[in-house]
Amino acid sequence: MKNILAFGASSSLNSINKQFAKYSSDQIPSSKTNLLDLNDFEMPIFSIDKQKESGIPDEAKNFKNYIYNSDAIIISFAEHNGSYTSAFKNVLDWVSRIERIVWCGKPMLLLSASDGERGAKLVLETAFNRIKRENTETLFKFSLKNFHSTFDLEKGILDAQLNKMYRSVLADFINVI
Ligand SMILES: Cc1cc2nc3c(=O)[nH]c(=O)nc-3n(C[C@H](O)[C@H](O)[C@H](O)COP(=O)(O)O)c2cc1C
Repeated sequence: MKNILAFGASSSLNSINKQFAKYSSDQIPSSKTNLLDLNDFEMPIFSIDKQKESGIPDEAKNFKNYIYNSDAIIISFAEHNGSYTSAFKNVLDWVSRIERIVWCGKPMLLLSASDGERGAKLVLETAFNRIKRENTETLFKFSLKNFHSTFDLEKGILDAQLNKMYRSVLADFINVI
């Protein structure tokens, strides 16, 4: 049984990215999902001075433990102003102070979803290019545009061509877990 760590890189209560991350994790056979909510990892806005003053918050250490204890990671990124959401960036900054290699080289499926035509591709590329520096072999990505018309919680991706691309990326990811 593989342990999949999954989360939407967003703090929205009804995050479409959380839904997409969970759906994707549910597609992986013989696996158990740990679905995180970034609201459980709310910390002061990172600064080097706050770290010197009070150290690294427990929430960041807990988050890192989830990474250590996983066999693979799925993140679906929301895009805010062309980049990471503040909620994700703050977790990333704090966790990166524990150890330089944030994601421990685990196999990763990076997703993004938005309601627009571009499918939050900018943030997906940013994340992919950054994580590629620590993982060149087991890193995969897929972006889903027009979420509310292309996705159904039970049926999955409704557009046949998009679904074919998604299934192919998912199969590559499953192969390396
Ligand atoms: C402050 C803010 C900035 C946003 N900027 C972008 C953006 O740059 N690109 C984009 O595709 N969508 C943008 N959106 C729309 C989000 O993609 C949309 O809210 C989406 O539902 C976020 O994902 P989530 O539901 O997982 O939080 C923005 C939304 C907010 C609230």
